[in-house]
Amino acid sequence: MIHIRQISVHDLPALQTIGRKTFVETFAEGNSEENLARYLAEGFSHEKLTKELANKNSQFYFAEMDGRVLGYLKVNMGNAQSEQQDPDALEIERIYLLKEFHGKEVGLALYQKALSIAHERKAAYIWLGVWEHNPRAIRFYEKQGFVKFDQHIFQLGDNEQTDILMKLSLPNLLEK
Ligand SMILES: CC(C)(COP(=O)(O)OP(=O)(O)OC[C@H]1O[C@@H](n2cnc3c(N)ncnc32)[C@H](O)[C@@H]1OP(=O)(O)O)[C@@H](O)C(=O)NCCC(=O)NCCS
Repeated sequence: MIHIRQISVHDLPALQTIGRKTFVETFAEGNSEENLARYLAEGFSHEKLTKELANKNSQFYFAEMDGRVLGYLKVNMGNAQSEQQDPDALEIERIYLLKEFHGKEVGLALYQKALSIAHERKAAYIWLGVWEHNPRAIRFYEKQGFVKFDQHIFQLGDNEQTDILMKLSLPNLLEK
């Protein structure tokens, strides 16, 4: 049984572990070791994650099975969103699973958590950025109804990469 649990600062070491491992599994191919190492050090530092976990406009969730962390979700609202968007929108900044759990509904379980948060908050839409060379993730979001609306540059070390911005409007929620 997959269990989705909101995490706190007490889970920081486990977040660092799953964050780094899934990032390497996703981006090791096609990126230099230096750029990767720099991102792993800075992007998952104790200081940075402590701040992110303390931010009231961000939430992190673990997907667990038998106490093992299989993947995680990070959502941002209001001014925690990483691009200027509607203050009432919800950003999925990260859904990252261990490779061995791809294609096993764990991603779907985390996505459904994000969707339920968007419903609770009556968000106008959900949006996210995904690397243009990440066809699996793009297909995953397309399956949920997301469509491309823009693109932006993501800096990985000294390498500029293009992220596709995708969104899912939730117009039915506005009527409530
Ligand atoms: C993105 C992620 C959460 C999706 O979860 P998942 O369980 O793997 O997703 P699913 O298996 O339900 O869907 C993936 C789809 O992509 C398809 N796919 C896989 N590789 C593909 C490729 N190279 N090209 C095109 N489609 C591909 C799969 O066939 C599947 O589509 P289908 O159900 O129509 O067959 C998960 O793969 C993951 O954690 N990846 C690594 C981290 C990452 O990239 N996160 C997103 C960053 S924004």
